Amino acid sequence: MVINTETHSSKNPFISEIVRRLKEHADIEAEVVKLLIDVPPNPGMGDYTLPCFALKEIFQKNPTLIAKELASIPLAGGQITRVEAHGPYLNFSVDKNILTRWVLTTVFNEKDSYGRRTLGSGKTVIIDYSSPNIAKHLGVHHLRSAVIGSALYRLHKALGYRVIGINHLGDWGTQFGQLITAFRHWGSEDALQHDPIGVLNSLYVKFHEEAEKDPSLEKEARAAFKKLEEGDPETRRLWKHFRELSLKEFNKVYDALGIKFDCYTGESFYNEMLEGTVESLKTAGLATISEEALIVDLEKYDMPPCLLKKRDEASLYATRDICAAEYRHKTYGFTRMLYVVGSEQKLHFRQVFKVLELMGDDWVKNCAHVDFGLIKFKHGRMSTRKGQIILLEEVLNEAVTRAHEIIEGKNPGLGNKDRVATQVGVGAVIFTDLSTRRTKDVIFDWDAVLNFEGETGPYVQYTHARLCSVMRKYGRPVTTAVDYGLLKEEDEYLLIRKLEQFPKAIEGAARSCEPVIMCNYLLELCGIFNRYYNHHRIISQDEALTRARILLSDSVRQVLRNGLTLLGIQTPEEM
Ligand code: ARG
Repeated sequence: MVINTETHSSKNPFISEIVRRLKEHADIEAEVVKLLIDVPPNPGMGDYTLPCFALKEIFQKNPTLIAKELASIPLAGGQITRVEAHGPYLNFSVDKNILTRWVLTTVFNEKDSYGRRTLGSGKTVIIDYSSPNIAKHLGVHHLRSAVIGSALYRLHKALGYRVIGINHLGDWGTQFGQLITAFRHWGSEDALQHDPIGVLNSLYVKFHEEAEKDPSLEKEARAAFKKLEEGDPETRRLWKHFRELSLKEFNKVYDALGIKFDCYTGESFYNEMLEGTVESLKTAGLATISEEALIVDLEKYDMPPCLLKKRDEASLYATRDICAAEYRHKTYGFTRMLYVVGSEQKLHFRQVFKVLELMGDDWVKNCAHVDFGLIKFKHGRMSTRKGQIILLEEVLNEAVTRAHEIIEGKNPGLGNKDRVATQVGVGAVIFTDLSTRRTKDVIFDWDAVLNFEGETGPYVQYTHARLCSVMRKYGRPVTTAVDYGLLKEEDEYLLIRKLEQFPKAIEGAARSCEPVIMCNYLLELCGIFNRYYNHHRIISQDEALTRARILLSDSVRQVLRNGLTLLGIQTPEEM
């Protein structure tokens, strides 16, 4: 097992001290302690805890006994004020003053970089997200993929990884032969310019209607795709035109969401490399002919065959994914590759990964299908005039309109309302999406999504804006030259503890590919802060106390900002 020594706790002087003392007095390896040390579930149990389950092997004893024995060794001293066993846990309390000072000065000094780590430095992570099919509307599932993918992008970047974000566009396949054929028969450039994706979409529909009546159209479409594969200039020109028009439309939505990609190497990019992939599959004895199609038989693994080539020699989705994975590995030498794609493609990725494994690509163990559930709309004013799929653009527009109405009611005097409504509306959609555990379906209930008091993006944004307003009201520079001993309220201590755990939330969310961990972290931080705010005056006549509470509040503001930014959500200072 490769143990990564730089974790969220590496910079923590208290953990370093615990590690040192355990090494010195109990001869437990630093690496082991660093990996295990955690925060106890409730604050009464101390500040840090060492769960002793994992020490069972080393000590050959039961964990409760280990904890008890370790507690009897004189481990306390220095910044460690108390060591106690609590069942199988060894709990440590530290000097609260020193801890408070350390947390608040760290946040103050590191500002926008607070939470960043270097544990990923020198390593590459590839994230394949959104990846819609061209000539079709972006659906809400492409939203989930885009939003989860780019959150994972930022989270990994914050840990120091080199991250490559790829939009693996669905821009290749026999359907483009159909589209080109349809355009040649019934399309017009004028109509296309007017509403590119709408027109291309209806051309698809028309093609299938007409092909029912006239089967020769299918033949024509197959021939057109063949020409496309072979590089016929006129066919290529049309396809390229459709691709560019689609991309222009997609980019409008990506821009609205603040989503970026490092490359748009879609399925077509691999056209010339596919033969090589198929050849090596044949050489490895994996490819066989079945019903005139070329397949990899996966019966042994309880899966249907992976289709490589159809009867007409045209390549398939899976072939292109196998080829793309090998290309990416060769080009980037990644340590992790994530495919953020809906759960309905589970089988596809199991097949693709299995084929790669059979080809001896042992790096496939570092590839993961980061799957997710559906988005379901509870009720609302969504129009479905374009058919069953609900369009991403409409969801965003609806969210912004509703945010506008709410802001109008709450804060009619607010300047640049349009901008704030966009930030809040889009933020609400992104947060809803991320705050549901990935594999579960997202229930989109408009009233809940935009509830400023619920567990929502606007609630976190609102708490952040409230803090900005406190800072404006204070109107003086924040300083770390404060009396830390004055922060002795229970909720103040809970806030400090929570702030300290921010780097851990980043690491947890990135490792498990669950941005919900960051959402929950932010909601909890807001919850503690708002309770504190309702019960205590931050700015009072007491100068020294005000200075200390302002430093604390500013740290909460900073961490909310850093967290929202990692999720891809804007942080308006007023709303
Ligand atoms: N284009 C596919 C779709 O819209 C998703 C592609 C996902 N990425 C991949 N490498 N297969 O369903």
